[in-house]
Amino acid sequence: MEKKNIDWSNLGFGYIQTEKRYVSNYKDGAWDDGVLTEDANIVISECAGVLQYAQTIFEGLKAYTTEDGHIVTFRPDLNAERLEASAKRLEMPVFPKERFLDAIDKVVAANEAYVPPYGSGATLYLRPYMFGSSPVIGVKPAQEYQFRVFGTPVGPYFKGGAKPLTIRVSDFDRAAPNGTGNIKAGLNYAMSLHAIVSAHAEGYDENMYLDPKTRTKVEETGGANFLFVTKDGKVVTPKSDSILPSITRRSLLYVAKEYLGLEVEEREVLLEELGDMAECGLCGTAAVISPVGKIVDHGKEICLPSGMTEMGPTTKKLYETLTGIQMGRIEAPEGWIRVIK
Ligand code: PLP
Ligand code: COI
Repeated sequence: MEKKNIDWSNLGFGYIQTEKRYVSNYKDGAWDDGVLTEDANIVISECAGVLQYAQTIFEGLKAYTTEDGHIVTFRPDLNAERLEASAKRLEMPVFPKERFLDAIDKVVAANEAYVPPYGSGATLYLRPYMFGSSPVIGVKPAQEYQFRVFGTPVGPYFKGGAKPLTIRVSDFDRAAPNGTGNIKAGLNYAMSLHAIVSAHAEGYDENMYLDPKTRTKVEETGGANFLFVTKDGKVVTPKSDSILPSITRRSLLYVAKEYLGLEVEEREVLLEELGDMAECGLCGTAAVISPVGKIVDHGKEICLPSGMTEMGPTTKKLYETLTGIQMGRIEAPEGWIRVIK
């Protein structure tokens, strides 16, 4: 299979249209068989549920070329399960897990020429999503839905790759208690746009959102969960019902404990204890683990001892072990890797 002529090593996190995408429609209470199509455009009613009341959910995962030349995905079953949870919360039909996995396999295989080569630092980002496609004008769920998956080759989410980020404590909230913060709904991202644009305008890479009720606890960023390393080497991540249950974060906690023998803790993390942390990272499919060097809380700078030039030592070990598992250099726990080719 001849690869596309793309400068893989210099890719950022952007959209490049690939050849084939998967589409399945839900009508009269059932999903159709689904097909791969070359048509990247969608035609829907002007009154579609997604356009009027933001009835849309999505997932994000990657396909990797391994050291020995296979193409694999990482824990796609967990993406299927999370999409199911998102669908239920927004009164959408569930796309069955086996069909989800098959759709991902098909899109990756059909776009093999766009799966970045091993060692390039790039991956094929996969975006499964579902939206209400039939008209709704009263506030209620649509009757018809479309599930789609496309792929796009990507490099690092943050410019500068592994260079530590500077983030700010946001005055905007991301997700209300008992709201939709724990699902992957487009609406959570729409409401983060003003916050991220203003953060960038002020020279910050990302926002740290706090719990809206007390504004004392760390939640997450617009697109990643937090992971901290304490000065005595413990890996700590915030526990909250209003953050997205990151598959990367769950995998990293396992890796920290079972592969690196570190103590791990999932608990409430207070803003006021950040000065005691040795390292901080943002973890997610897109972010992988992106190190944070500085957190600015309304003019007060919290400088992580790991500094502004490279990843802290524990973050680095976690990064290397996780990406080693994803790229086939390190043996994966049972069921984590799905071989497509
Ligand atoms: N938190 C938010 C808000 C996200 O959008 C993402 C990205 O998917 C994550 C966390 C990380 O989740 P995962 O590791 O499953 O990609
Ligand atoms: C992902 O990591 O897959 C996400 O959906 C995050 C998004 C901000 C790109």
